[in-house]
Amino acid sequence: MMTLKILAVVSEIYPLVKTGGLADVAGALPGALAPEEVAVTTLVPGYPAVMTALKKGEVVQTFANLFGHPARLLKGQAKGLDLLVLDAPHLYDRTGNPYVDADGKDWIDNPLRFAALARVAADLGQGLVPALKPDVIHAHDWQAGLVPAYLRYSDRPGVPTVMTVHNLAFQGQFGRDLLPALGLPARAYAIDGVEYYGTIGFLKAGLQLADRVTTVSPTYAAEIRTPEGGMGLDGLLRSRGSAVSGILNGIDTGVWNPAADPMIAAPYDLAHLSARAANKKALQQRLGLDPDPNALVFGVVSRLSWQKGLDLLLDRLPALVAGGGQLAMLGSGEPALAGGFAHATVAHGGRVGVVNGYDEALAHLIQAGADVILVPSRFEPCGLTQLCALRYGALPLVARVGGLADTVIDANEVAIASGAGTGIQFNPVTGDAFENALTRAFELWRDRAAWKKLQKNAMRTDVSWTRPAAAYARLYRELAAGHG
Ligand code: ADP
Ligand code: GLC
Repeated sequence: MMTLKILAVVSEIYPLVKTGGLADVAGALPGALAPEEVAVTTLVPGYPAVMTALKKGEVVQTFANLFGHPARLLKGQAKGLDLLVLDAPHLYDRTGNPYVDADGKDWIDNPLRFAALARVAADLGQGLVPALKPDVIHAHDWQAGLVPAYLRYSDRPGVPTVMTVHNLAFQGQFGRDLLPALGLPARAYAIDGVEYYGTIGFLKAGLQLADRVTTVSPTYAAEIRTPEGGMGLDGLLRSRGSAVSGILNGIDTGVWNPAADPMIAAPYDLAHLSARAANKKALQQRLGLDPDPNALVFGVVSRLSWQKGLDLLLDRLPALVAGGGQLAMLGSGEPALAGGFAHATVAHGGRVGVVNGYDEALAHLIQAGADVILVPSRFEPCGLTQLCALRYGALPLVARVGGLADTVIDANEVAIASGAGTGIQFNPVTGDAFENALTRAFELWRDRAAWKKLQKNAMRTDVSWTRPAAAYARLYRELAAGHG
């Protein structure tokens, strides 16, 4: 088999820059694709963290004027990743979060910052640097959404494209007056082009113009084609027919490995589940929870946003505590939610422990020490924390939406009888249904032998990238062979 060359285009990548699961996916997929004879190079913005990490960056192209200023394209490696880094200080030389300023406001020039990334990707797809011409370009989320547009509205031939949507809620919508500044011709502003309800839609452009569209779970692929889940794009997605498909995410099972995780208190595996107790104890201590081995500990590792449904949890915390449960939570995001949970730690001393912030080591300890991981999302394209939970033997309690529906097997009577359950699902996503699910968790917890069986089922679930990587490899090969 000939090695296929893929150019991935993405605005964040683990372990260099991360705000969410997108970075995890971008960071793990290249390694998972290597055994499939697929070589991925990832084009990323030259944020300070990327520039610092880049080893022996070699200049492969210079741009005299990229949206107003000179820029360079560097090729090199960082943390085992093959990167092309767009060194454009006027766009990317800003520390902190890649999308927002210190006050949490979107950078005003975000459309140009990410259009530049897409512009350079499209150039590479048209052979700007012959040695670096990929067979297929894989664009992730709205930040890379203009790649197919730049290729389409050009006289030069380019390579096929895949557009992956990780979250339809972030669409990259900007004023139509930007069209000339983006270097797109007037004809691009059309219903079958970049036009989106009277604006320019970066994600819309990608969904419209890419050869294939994927999203990160089969259920989300179906949901986004409905008016309820389509966030304005369902009509377009339906019109793309079989060009749209869902490929489930995996997790990096090297980074997330309870048997050899340097960030947890005690390693364990399926055969030594009792060693989990030390992690539970360490977690309780770290978060100021009562050191009670019999308390059912619910864990949360999440962005605090409407999507994640954590207001339902805040609302039903009294029930969780009254049932004898404890909450170990790590989250960052909306101040109102953070404030609500901080208040709850005072109201329920020793039963509710919350860390507000981003903390990778604590995320691992929560997975290893909690008995249940809560993911009550209103919508969830895939979700990675429930996959980590399965791997760590913390039973995921999840809303039955998107990728959560596809990755957790509800431990109902039938599933338990056939030995298949791996967690708890609830729907609709309401406080009452959520509270019922909490009650079910407490009931299951009473039978520790049954609980252990569920934990083992969970830990046996294949959450690796092996299968998804094979699916992406198939897709790339179809496209490269001209079967777009
Ligand atoms: P999303 O991308 O919508 O935030 P995912 O479940 O796909 O949700 O991915 C979230 C990723 O970010 C996971 O790797 C999770 O462990 C991590 N994460 C989320 N919040 C935090 C936090 N406060 N501290 C550390 N890691 C976090
Ligand atoms: C998005 C989604 C999340 C998904 C992640 C990686 O951030 O919210 O569900 O797991 O992307 O695809």
